[in-house]
Amino acid sequence: MSIDARYPAISDLRARAERRIPKFVWEYLDSATGNEATKARNRAALDAIGFTPSILHGEITPNLTTTLMGETYPAPFGVAPVGMSGLVWPDAERTLARAATRAGLPYCLSTVATQTPETVGPLTDGRGWFQLYPPRDPEIRLDMLRRAHESGFSTLVLTVDVPVASRRERQLRSGLTQPPRLTPRLLAQVALRPAWAFETWSHGMPHMRTLDAYSSDTSARDSTAHVGYLLRTSPDWDYLTWLREHWQGKLVVKGVLNPADAPRLQEAGVDAIWVSNHAGRQFDAAPASITALPQIRAATRLPLIFDSGVESGLDILRAIALGADFVMMGRPWHYALAALGRDGPAHLIDILTRDMIANMGQLGITRPTWLRRQIG
Ligand code: FNR
Repeated sequence: MSIDARYPAISDLRARAERRIPKFVWEYLDSATGNEATKARNRAALDAIGFTPSILHGEITPNLTTTLMGETYPAPFGVAPVGMSGLVWPDAERTLARAATRAGLPYCLSTVATQTPETVGPLTDGRGWFQLYPPRDPEIRLDMLRRAHESGFSTLVLTVDVPVASRRERQLRSGLTQPPRLTPRLLAQVALRPAWAFETWSHGMPHMRTLDAYSSDTSARDSTAHVGYLLRTSPDWDYLTWLREHWQGKLVVKGVLNPADAPRLQEAGVDAIWVSNHAGRQFDAAPASITALPQIRAATRLPLIFDSGVESGLDILRAIALGADFVMMGRPWHYALAALGRDGPAHLIDILTRDMIANMGQLGITRPTWLRRQIG
């Protein structure tokens, strides 16, 4: 049976991923915070967006080519930053960076990755994005920017929706600590997932390489706190101004939901706004990202990047219809990797592309942005 017949949708990849990775890893990847109401809202609000097809459009050839911040991509989607990606599947960062770049799509490396900027940047052909959890120490800050730039990252993404750590109760219940410690309980969960255990041990246990490289304070590694939280601060508008002055490449601010923030971001000189509620992982009373999107679209001319809960090509079309210029995904890429290993990312690209094209055919449109005419 072909890969497409066995795993035709992201839900199939998700189901297989859950069967293949240990419980605590699954909970890390899939959980949100609180009662997971924001996560549920993301899905419900996307599902609620419908389009009424019109008829007799004749043969059409959909064109997914999209330009964002001066770069042209063959499709309007890419890989959002996911911390500890390499815990989900070994070598996840490099596998995803390679697969996305091969397909001409953007890959964004997290600050809290299991790889360094130096090991991933060169795989992105100078088109990679680097996500910043803002370090407090100006020296570490400058060093991070320098290393990201010298490693070939052209776009910096400042994440602003993690001013403090969130709880993610499902993660806590599974026994996962920060930093992860292999307790007998977690080892028992690992023993039930031999494929993951084999792959992980043959690659060497993942650890927070990016931050180890930045942290001269070795006591941080022994602490019960995640080394990332020791380094990062809660940024303010002055921090953003400082960053704009010190980063010559494209600058994106990720985690925006309030339309009142958009004009101020534009004034601060950012190149794009990333509308996101962090997939419901930070604040359980946040609006669905898709609900916030049209108001932010109305408040700024800046390009808008969108994420949170996108699970199909149709969802990508929905986001573009409501004002997004580009759509990123976090979990789906990791479901694909955990389900199918190295073949996963290319299969996910295939699923999303085919689904976009099929739905555009139903609607008789050749460019996704034409959908904006059908809304409001
Ligand atoms: C994330 N996200 C995230 N964002 C960020 O800016 N830096 C990070 O290190 C992480 N880490 C992270 C870990 C995991 C396990 C997940 C699931 C998510 C958020 C991510 O970039 C993105 O906003 C959401 O994942 C998008 O929602 P979907 O596509 O996962 O539904």
